[in-house]
Amino acid sequence: MKTRILTADAAAIEAAAALLAASELVAMPTETVYGLAGNAFDEQAVLKIFAAKERPSFDPLIVHLAPDAGRDLAELARRELIDPAAVALGLRPALDALIAAFWPGPLTLVLPRHPRVPELVTSGLATVALRVPAHPVAQALLARTFPLAAPSANRFGRISPTDAAAVFQELQGRIPLILDGGPCRIGLESTVLGIEADQLCLLRPGQLSAEELAATAGVTIRPQAPHPAEIRAPGMLKSHYAPLSPLDLVQAQAEIPALLQARPGRPGLLLLRPNPELEAIMATRGGRLISLSADAALDEIARGLFAALRQLDGLDFLIAELPPAGSGLAHAIRDRLQKAAAR
Ligand code: TXA
Ligand code: MG
Repeated sequence: MKTRILTADAAAIEAAAALLAASELVAMPTETVYGLAGNAFDEQAVLKIFAAKERPSFDPLIVHLAPDAGRDLAELARRELIDPAAVALGLRPALDALIAAFWPGPLTLVLPRHPRVPELVTSGLATVALRVPAHPVAQALLARTFPLAAPSANRFGRISPTDAAAVFQELQGRIPLILDGGPCRIGLESTVLGIEADQLCLLRPGQLSAEELAATAGVTIRPQAPHPAEIRAPGMLKSHYAPLSPLDLVQAQAEIPALLQARPGRPGLLLLRPNPELEAIMATRGGRLISLSADAALDEIARGLFAALRQLDGLDFLIAELPPAGSGLAHAIRDRLQKAAAR
């Protein structure tokens, strides 16, 4: 199959909508990362998503909705996406407040599934993950189609793509069309919230922090609990988002010269801010150094992180600097780097 990349203008969006209506797949930009979209209510399309990504069928997909479909829990139920009877009564005001404040935006809610949502989408779980993307191209596509199942547009276990070229690198020959909407504004996948024992809990950290979400929801949010024995979201698997080159993490730039000296071969260095001393050392080593921000600004680091890992991948070994522990983007960046390093 030939994979076309089209600038996401009105004609390209029409072409994409026609492909989706014919059970085909289209890669689309969102504000977080690029997604690989197919009709969520069409099992043939959903099967193609798992095949193109080589994704195991036990890893459920996020269903993307147009803003009018995601107004509140009542609307989600009316559209046969969730089973409102299964949402704990006490959590309804909290969930409606989150929806009102953060949709469209980088928040995914895992809610009791409506029986009409194909089990293939939810990997047989009793819940479905829902999100209303803020990107104008994703919204234009959703306005012309139906709820779209869309995982990140990478092969399973690989780094999420944040521009059209990265999608092409991952899925070339496997899908007919990539809508090019430029680089993603956030660069890391959405925050995922689920419900456990009638409490909201953080399943995947993202730009929106648990504190910020809890303040809006008016309830506490249980922190992400890494239970290797009972993984609910494979986004919680330890090794994920992985480059092919071995990756070491450091907490401070001062640790790097000794590591460089100890290892032979061409290094790839990922820094949060520039460092002239390390640039001088690297000039003698023939590797590559990327510094993500002039002043270690977290939003800039998040935006550039996956593209930088992709550029450095293939060197003999990689070293990346972790941001200090924190919530929101700091938590999400550390989470993705730690998963990339866990091989
Ligand atoms: O920002 C994003 O969320 C991007 C863009 C394209 O929207 N999408 C994305 O999809 O990251 P994906 O498939 O790469 O990650 C979805 C995560 C996975 O960790 C999956 O296991 C989890 O959400 N998930 C989906 N449905 C779930 C469910 N019913 N219960 C628990 N976790 C679920
Ligand atoms: Mg993914």
